[in-house]
Amino acid sequence: LFARPIVFVKGCVSLADLPPMDRVEIAFAGRSNVGKSSLINALCGTSGLARTSNTPGRTQELNIFESQSENLRLVDMPGYGYARAPEPKVKAWTQLVHRYLTGRATLRRVYLLIDSRHGPKDNDLSVMNELDRAAVSYQLVLTKIDKPSARDLEAVVSRTMAVIAKRPAAHPGLILTSSEKGTGLDQLRTEIALLLED
Ligand code: GTP
Ligand code: MG
Repeated sequence: LFARPIVFVKGCVSLADLPPMDRVEIAFAGRSNVGKSSLINALCGTSGLARTSNTPGRTQELNIFESQSENLRLVDMPGYGYARAPEPKVKAWTQLVHRYLTGRATLRRVYLLIDSRHGPKDNDLSVMNELDRAAVSYQLVLTKIDKPSARDLEAVVSRTMAVIAKRPAAHPGLILTSSEKGTGLDQLRTEIALLLED
């Protein structure tokens, strides 16, 4: 699946810019700077595919990537929460993200990324509430697990699992990743391949 290139198609600033609903779509969502764009690059094995930055608020559009071998589209989203950008702009992205996440029939799975140094925050919980309400399938992914100590990571993992256990609907388990070290990428690729099968 990831052996053939995944290519950048376009950046969308409104729902009207989105391509037709003719592919299985998988979206990467999460707070600003959590590592969404980096994870897409790591999964696809192409370092400059999605633009990344130290500054929160790097991704400002719904960026669309497509597989050249499969019926698959990956969507890199602007982050929510803190972003170093003007307020009206941030409001516009947030609205775009929410509309896309809750109103796209071809959206098969949302990977909701959470920084392994911090665990789930209030705005992550609001997104989970929205996704549950809209009956959109999502899975939590801890990012940057190369950063915390083993002990701190263990505490965040327990806390995050407890959050999943309390959700009203059943959800797939937690995936632990490091785009830097390559941890968890094969697991994520396998899960994505399975999503394409059903
Ligand atoms: P926005 O587009 O601004 O919402 O951010 P994003 O979620 O796309 O984050 P991005 O991929 O741009 O990464 C943010 C910062 O985290 C960059 O400086 C990355 O190099 C760093 N980063 C991402 N993944 C990892 C990781 O697995 N380990 C480490 N140590 N750093 C990472
Ligand atoms: Mg980004």
